[in-house]
Order: sequence, then structure tokens, then C-alpha cells
Amino acid sequence: MLLLGALVLLFLHGSVAQRDSDLFSFVTLPEVRALKFEIHHVDRDRQLPGYWFVAPYGQIDPEASTHRYQQYQVGPYIYDNDGMLIWAGSPLYDNRNVFDFKANWNMDDQPHLSFILQHTDVEKGSGMILNNNYELEHEVGVTNDLGAFNMHEFNILDGGKTALACSYRPSLVSFASFGRPEEEGWVQAGGFVEIDIDSSEVLHEWDSHDEIPVFESIKVQPWDSPSGEPGSDYVHINAVDKNDAGDYIISMRFTNTIYGISGSEGKIMWRLGGLESNFDMDFTFHKQHDVKFISSNETHHVISLMNNASDEGEADESISAALYIELDMTTMTARVIRRIERPDGGLTRLRGNVQPLPNDNTFIGWSEWGYHSEHAPNGDLLMWAKFSSERFSSYRSYKFDWIGRPNTTPDLVSSVYGTNREDVLTIIHVSWNGATDIAGWNFYARAHESGDNVFIGYTSKLDFETMYLADGFMDWVSVEAIDSEGNVLSTSDIQRTTIPENWAAIGFEPEGSSPSPDDPSLLYLPDGEVEEPVDDGTSSSNLKSQDQIYADTKEVAKSVYKVYAILHGVEAFAILVLVGSCVAGVVLGVRRILRRRRQLSSYKNVPTEEGNEEVEESNLPAEQIPLRRNSDG
Ligand SMILES: *[C@@H]1O[C@H](CO)[C@@H](O)[C@H](O)[C@H]1NC(C)=O
Ligand SMILES: *[C@@H]1O[C@H](CO)[C@@H](O)[C@H](O)[C@H]1NC(C)=O
Repeated sequence: MLLLGALVLLFLHGSVAQRDSDLFSFVTLPEVRALKFEIHHVDRDRQLPGYWFVAPYGQIDPEASTHRYQQYQVGPYIYDNDGMLIWAGSPLYDNRNVFDFKANWNMDDQPHLSFILQHTDVEKGSGMILNNNYELEHEVGVTNDLGAFNMHEFNILDGGKTALACSYRPSLVSFASFGRPEEEGWVQAGGFVEIDIDSSEVLHEWDSHDEIPVFESIKVQPWDSPSGEPGSDYVHINAVDKNDAGDYIISMRFTNTIYGISGSEGKIMWRLGGLESNFDMDFTFHKQHDVKFISSNETHHVISLMNNASDEGEADESISAALYIELDMTTMTARVIRRIERPDGGLTRLRGNVQPLPNDNTFIGWSEWGYHSEHAPNGDLLMWAKFSSERFSSYRSYKFDWIGRPNTTPDLVSSVYGTNREDVLTIIHVSWNGATDIAGWNFYARAHESGDNVFIGYTSKLDFETMYLADGFMDWVSVEAIDSEGNVLSTSDIQRTTIPENWAAIGFEPEGSSPSPDDPSLLYLPDGEVEEPVDDGTSSSNLKSQDQIYADTKEVAKSVYKVYAILHGVEAFAILVLVGSCVAGVVLGVRRILRRRRQLSSYKNVPTEEGNEEVEESNLPAEQIPLRRNSDG
């Protein structure tokens, strides 16, 4: 029976694992499937501490909304520097694509999140700004005639009053620059808008239609006949930034050019790259992305950009690279002051971004499959990572410091298992979506709804979701999130523990009976007898097997939840029995460990004579005799 149970479990497990090994799943957040990362730390000491901000998407065009149930995967996500999930934001936006997701520390004295919520067939999309409680503070919508909030850029300027976005607008342009002055054709003019964050009003607007002739485009040829509406995407704007002097830089992918635009005149002041470059330069770039000012004064601009290294003609480069370029406006020379190549030697054909970090490191999003890397000032590779899944990409990826204080309380799921009155065990899962700075969790139970909270244990937070095993049948369970200084960050609601629908089905004996909740104050004495279940720092060889059983139980518990979910409302009693009997085996092991742990800790408290290592076994309380052997083993 037990063997069969294990087989069924393995089968269920295996099939789930094979399909989804690249995604996390959580007991406390069952509607979310977060992407896992594959990570290679080359030099941790030189990395900037911080969090990753990514927005995985499966396909770049908005999907038609369906009523098909799908777990949340795409949308804004925060991870720590080891790929541990911090925040899954996708449930807020119903699996809609999100772009340019990042933290902003430049608005006021509080950190904010911002991103572009992609348009749908009925909505134009918008720039979203959340506070660090994950509450919406501003939705910057489209208030002019533009068809959609463009997906490339949502660049909140210092002070948080205005933001820049790209614009695409069908326009009729002359073909005079091809020597055909009598002809006109439709193009998508590329430009930008500066928007008031409070009112969504467009304060400043510029586009290419009068300023960039069609002959600069690599997408329109002199022999092409003019196109009708909506016209060809002849410049393809993909980035915009503004300096303190009030001037703008933009990147046009289909003219291979960065343009400097006067804020006051609206005229192109200079071109870098492309057919009409104003600079002496001994380097090339093509199909570039994400141009940004790093510094800018009257005589010099330093800018960064992602060069995807076009495969065209003489400009052929075999590898994509992040470039830092200094423009000397007195001599009109441009030189590369830093060049960081893509660590895998590959090409970022589309998208990508370059982010200078405060310690002079560079964080680079290479986009496809969420590939990103961090580099030292001299270019040394410090870390690279990518999604375990090749089904998703992130348009841009960033690294920022972050303080997340969700306005929700921690999510708690508690359930009870056992095969007889003596081995009953309560399994508690906890997580707090979006919270940073949690060092560990305090667990409590009470005997009845209005009873006193009894402390039943503490465990460190080592992952997004933490499992805690408590001896006995604990009902009315709650948890506190604790920071590294012992402060309580939040307290969960009090949660009743889920009981098996049928105790006999999970193997509980004697048949027909079922346990009632324990009074925690009788099981958990307030003298610190209860210890952390894992990683308590004791170097005992028992810990290995303890960890192993803990891990096994965690897996089994997850499967049980999955099976519960599958069986919900379905008549499949037999499978439940099989799973139950398998769980029972693990429960017994865990129960043994919990008991040993408790006895071990009381053993530690027994005063021993100094220097008298060889305490006669017969002098010890009977229950400690085998324990001492175990802990020395
Ligand atoms: C302008 O910036 C350049 C470096 O980008 C620097 O060398 C120069 O000293 C700066 N000029 C002024 C007036 O600050
Ligand atoms: C660079 O990007 C453009 C368009 O995004 C693409 O057509 C071109 O092939 C890319 N270059 C390389 C070398 O992949």
C-alpha cells in the first residue's frame, strides 16, 4: 500500500515537475507561477547589493483576453540577487504584458515602482506608478490622439513631476529627399511626449515627421512607391531621455542614429551615427536601444546605449555590446569610453538596456530569455543570469535597491496530518508577497478563537515561501514577520487549520476516530524548548537527515495540496488514500525528529559537571541516553 502510494505520488510529482520545472509554485500563492532563474555568480564581492526588476512576457503583442483560467506568469516581478522571488505583481494586472518595469528613487523621498501596462484591444494602456506599499499612485494615461501608450519607454524625470514616453503617429510625408518632391506617402512618425504625471496632460511633444526625411531610414528605399495609411515604421523610436539643460536625446532604430533635440526650439541639434552623423567617430553602432544621458554639460555629453550590432554591410559586428560614449561638443568628436560585450558572445537582436549602477558597475538586460549580467567598471563579468524557461523574455531588466512594505498581511496556509493520536503534525506555509527585509517568522497558535497566542516556534526566512512543521494539532494559527533586529513587520490574520476531509482516508487509526486540536499551551512550554526546525546552527550529523526529511516533507506537502486541488469536488477517494499513506510515512519521520529535537534541547539544559565528559549513562535521565548517542554520532 505504502509503495503504491509512493508510486502514485512520484507519478503526480514527476508529471507536474516535468511540465513546470522552470516555474515556481507556492502553496500560499497558488494562482502564481513565477519564473525561475539560472544564475552564475562570478564575483559576488564586487556586485552591488540590490534586487532585479524584470517583466517577463511570452509574446510581445497583446493577447486577446480569454476566459480560460491561466495561472499568472507574465507581468512585473522583483527578485533578489540570488533569484529568490520577492514580488509577483502579475495578479494585479491579469497576466497583461508590462514593460520598462523599474524602481524609481528620483521622485521624492520614497521609493516607487513604475512600468508600462500594455494596451489591449479596448484600452490604450498607461504608465503606472505604485508606492512601496504596492498601491497605485498614478495612472498616466493617453490623453491626446495617440492610439496607445507606447511600450518602449516610461522615463520618470527627477522630481517626479513629468515622464517621457515614445510616440508613434501616422503622418503624410514628402518624398522630396528622394528627389521626388511631387510625391507623398504615409509613415509612422516617431517622436516623444513629456507628460504631466498628475494630470496625464501632454506638456511637450516632438515627432520626426518634419524633421527626419525618409532617406535617412533603412526601411524605405529610393525606389519604393509611397505607402498608404498607416504607413511604414520608418524611424522606429525606442528610447528618450532629457538633460538638466532641457534638451532631449532619442534613439531611432531604423536610422541607426541618436538625435539631440533642442527642448526650446524642437529642432535636431546633432546626429550621432547613421547617414548624416555630425561627429568624428571611430566606432559604429546599429539598431541601438535605450540611449540615456549619464552626464551632460555645455561642452560634453556622456551617454549610454545598447548596440545590438547590426549585421549590415561594413558595420558588421559579431557581438552585441553596451557602450558608454563621450561626445565633445567643442570638437564634435565622439569616442567610446567603455564597451561591455555580451558575456555569451551572442547578439541581442531586439530590445535590451544598459543601466549604470551607483557604484559604477553596469547592469545590462540582453532581453531574450531574461538574460542579464552585471559588470565591474573595468568590464569584468560579475554575474549573469537568465530565465530557466525559454518561453519568456524581458524587454528591459534593471537592478535597484528596494524596500517593499505591502499593505496586505502575510499569507498563511495551515493543515494537519497524522496516522494516530500520537503523531499528529501541523504543517504551516507562509509568505508575504512583496515584502523585503524579513529575517524570519514567529509562529503562534491558540486553543480557541479568543484564547491567548502561544508561541510555537521561529524559523528563518530562506525562500519566498517558508514551511514550518509544528508538533501536534495546532488550530487558530498566526505568524509574525520579523526583521533582522527583531522588530515585527507584520502579523498575519489568525487562520484555522485545514483538516483532512476524511481522516481514515489518510490512514488515521483507529478507524472512525479523528483527533481534536491540541491546547498549544500544554504542548509548548514558555521556556524556549522549541527550536528552529532547520538550520539551527548545531553541527550534528543528525541535521543532514533532518534537512532531508524536512525537504521530503515539503515536497510531499506540496503534492498533497496539488492532489487536494485536483480532487476538489471529484470522487477519487482511492488516490487520497494512497497519497495519505505515503504522507503518513514522512509524518512519522518528521514526528520522530521533532521529538528528538525537543529532547536534545532539554539535554543541553541539563547541568553537567565541568570536565566530566564521561557521564555514566546510568546517571542520566533515561530519555536522554539514546539521544546523547545520536547527537555524538
Ligand atoms: C563637462 O563634462 C566633461 C566630462 O564629461 C568634463 O571633462 C568637463 O570638465 C565638464 N565641464 C564642466 C564645465 O563642468
Ligand atoms: C539588430 O536589430 C535589427 C532590428 O531589430 C535586426 O534587423 C538586425 O538583424 C539586428 N542585428 C543583428 C546583428 O542581429
